[in-house]
Amino acid sequence: MAKYRILVMNGPNLGHLGKRQPEIYGAQGMEAVPGLLDQVMGRDAGDVELEFFQSNSEGSLIDRLEQARAEGVHGVAFNAGAYTHTSLAIADCLAWIGIPCVEVHLSNVWARKSQPLRQQSLMGERCIGVIAGFGILSYALAVQALYMRLETEG
Ligand code: DQA
Repeated sequence: MAKYRILVMNGPNLGHLGKRQPEIYGAQGMEAVPGLLDQVMGRDAGDVELEFFQSNSEGSLIDRLEQARAEGVHGVAFNAGAYTHTSLAIADCLAWIGIPCVEVHLSNVWARKSQPLRQQSLMGERCIGVIAGFGILSYALAVQALYMRLETEG
């Protein structure tokens, strides 16, 4: 049995990765994540059980985070999409559920200078860190970071 359950979450407009603006978000879909995790983590990947969830709705994302708390999920890798920049409700949820969360982005949001709102994150303060700019690999790197944190801090 895997040691850690990690929830990989996507917010709005992230349900069609590979098809949505591939020049910005890449040509790979979420199905590539487990293989990338194997490449990044090697044998340690066996210690991690991934669960995937995507919703376009803010309330459903919050419901899933609350459920994760009730289920004893160990970590969350969360690309909240545009809600990253706007949702105080998601930030409030992350503030109390007590699950370490890594903020994830496919694109390097800081390089998108013509859209300064993308450089603002309401949830970042409630996360243990941010991984951005590596396409689908960002999710695998976030899971690895969570794993290493869990291994050292429990
Ligand atoms: C994104 C960046 C956000 O600004 C945008 O709204 C997204 C995707 C990313 O993964 O690069 O939907 O989170």
